[in-house]
Amino acid sequence: MNLEQKFEELCRRNAAAERGGGDERRKRQEAEGRFSARARLETLFDGGSFEEIDKLVEHHCPQFSLSKQRIPGDGVITGYGLINGRQAFAFAQDFTVFGGSLSEANAAKICKIMDLALKTGAPVVGLNDSGGARIQEGVASLAGYADIFLRNTLASGVIPQISAVLGPCAGGAVYSPAITDFIFMVERSSCMFVTGPDVIKTVMHEDVTKEELGGPMTHNRVSGVAHFLAPDEADCLARVRELLSFLPQNNHEDPPRVETGDPANRADEELDRLVPDESDRPYDMKQIITRVVDEGYFFEVQEHFARNLVVGFARLAGSTVGVVANQPETLAGCLDINASVKGARFVRFCDTFNIPLVTFVDVPGFLPGTQQEFGGIIRHGAKLLFAFAEATVPKLTIITRKAYGGAYCVMASKHLRTDVNFAYPTAEIAVMGAEGAVNIVYRREIEKAGDPAALRREKIEEFRSRFANPYVAAERGYIDAVILPRETRSRLIAALQMLDTKRETMPPKKHGNIPL
Ligand code: HXC
Repeated sequence: MNLEQKFEELCRRNAAAERGGGDERRKRQEAEGRFSARARLETLFDGGSFEEIDKLVEHHCPQFSLSKQRIPGDGVITGYGLINGRQAFAFAQDFTVFGGSLSEANAAKICKIMDLALKTGAPVVGLNDSGGARIQEGVASLAGYADIFLRNTLASGVIPQISAVLGPCAGGAVYSPAITDFIFMVERSSCMFVTGPDVIKTVMHEDVTKEELGGPMTHNRVSGVAHFLAPDEADCLARVRELLSFLPQNNHEDPPRVETGDPANRADEELDRLVPDESDRPYDMKQIITRVVDEGYFFEVQEHFARNLVVGFARLAGSTVGVVANQPETLAGCLDINASVKGARFVRFCDTFNIPLVTFVDVPGFLPGTQQEFGGIIRHGAKLLFAFAEATVPKLTIITRKAYGGAYCVMASKHLRTDVNFAYPTAEIAVMGAEGAVNIVYRREIEKAGDPAALRREKIEEFRSRFANPYVAAERGYIDAVILPRETRSRLIAALQMLDTKRETMPPKKHGNIPL
């Protein structure tokens, strides 16, 4: 072979890898409105920055005449490049090659970039579109999955891991995205389930469609498995890039700071009127959040799941913060099982990646009922408590209105090592609401009274004026300052700057035993 032939040989091999499963299969994919694996990577990374590795890797499976079908790359494209100017690693499963199924060889490719990401301290993005384990390879494929799961686990809390599910993701394959920090799904094209509709029909005699079982809305609204819902792939990949812009590269770094034109001392008088005077009137906590943070921009996580608790990222004076907030508009802002789990996971993510927590509190308590108790609200509520208590990042809390009972303690109270606790003058910090308290404490007196209703009203008023305010807590130092709502932004930013050098550690241990 002369020099020219050697170069041609490389071109021929590269072209074969780029053809993937061929034009026909690619056109079928495009007709469904789905990008090719290569186009997805081009969209994800900064223009022209993606560097592919292992392009010529092939499978080694001789079974089922597979040796006659060897496609360079073997159904997954792996590599690295820049996202928002910072290094990131990614893999994209190519559905046109054996349905993107996972072989021993392509699992090794994924593991290789995960190892590099861990060594260099950069995020990994997985673009999932796969029929699962490569059936012809049997246990070698299962071993490949387990190798990936192990790496997902070891990388957890060290580098951000993000999954976009852009097609099928079924069987045990779901557990790789499940271990990662965030899962994106796309309307109409993604689905995730452990066992599919056919098996469910056979074993459980239940009829369910693929969409109902594991479609994007199911996992965004019902199961809470997914964190983001995108209308199409372009939007999904743009939002993966945006999510990364809030995050540090690894657990040793602080999140990036960006320039903002929004003044740190911006006062907002509208805020003074957002929390209603009546303690049972709903209002939208997101309006408070957006009025306080830089440029009014809030990047919400799990928008459709457990809407009684709002979580997401924003910036204050250009620095990323994780926001956790009760939402009085849904279930009066009560904490239930789903909200507790959602909040706990988000708090732990922020703590792992050095993202300060800002918690807005308006919570009447834990949701009562047999459904909640039988479902284990004790265990699940404890997760949120545990997560706030163990978090060592700067923690700031603002009580806007109710902070009752156990939920007062749980929602980043002073007692859980929160650094700065603010309350609005409308705050009501008490063991429970005035009506409930009076019914218990004065029951006998009220029953015996000549005019029980009048005595009850009088006691409620007395209770309210004595306890349903922020001052009892402020007198004890559980609240550091009672502030006017309009000052929220400047007070938060000043506190964050004061905490910039905060260092707090946990007692030495292997790991805690969060009530899972
Ligand atoms: C090998 C596979 C494959 C697989 C699909 N293909 N899945 N090849 N192993 N797991 C191939 C098909 O043979 C076909 O090849 C091409 O990919 C496209 O598949 P279609 O069925 O034509 O596509 P579509 O109609 O869109 O259906 C997609 C699908 C379906 C729903 C994903 O392919 C499917 O049900 N596949 C099997 C899913 C599954 O049961 N996987 C194992 C799960 S258990 P040609 O040559 O015709 O284009 C598992 C365990 C993991 O994954 C455990 C981890 C611990």
